[in-house]
Amino acid sequence: MPRTVFSIKARIRDHSISVPAPENSTRFGIPNACNACHEDKTSAWAAKALQAWGPPGPARQRAVRHAEAFTAARQSDPAAEAALLAIMARADEPPSYGPTRPVTCGGSTVPASRPPSSRR
Ligand code: HEC
Repeated sequence: MPRTVFSIKARIRDHSISVPAPENSTRFGIPNACNACHEDKTSAWAAKALQAWGPPGPARQRAVRHAEAFTAARQSDPAAEAALLAIMARADEPPSYGPTRPVTCGGSTVPASRPPSSRR
């Protein structure tokens, strides 16, 4: 079983299987659940198989959206700003991604998504 959970001090094994987004492996080098078993196949093969099974669901779209935004942010790409603000503004993101108070950045304002007291 591969070590897929990264903590501050260690990489540890975990039985959970992430939402498969093999396109994130191809584009960003992020491991995907499909190729954890199908080690002899490429991530492009897994993405093609998934594509044949139907359009991506909300969880896979979210995984791709996050990979695009956070990778751009790590690379200090100015395009990350709009992508991160768009994530913060979404009502379907976990509370930890939304601002506790309105944020204005680059001419856009993202309202507070939830009051701080309702956050976990
Ligand atoms: C827990 C292990 C495991 C994971 C995770 C897994 N698979 Fe599989 N997959 C298998 C096994 C076992 C088979 C059956 C292989 C056989 O019959 O020879 C299989 C079969 C397949 C086949 C048919 C293979 C063929 O040659 O016809 C495809 C396509 C496939 N998987 C795609 C995927 C995709 C895409 C993902 C990610 C969404 C995925 N698998 C995740 C274990 C896994």
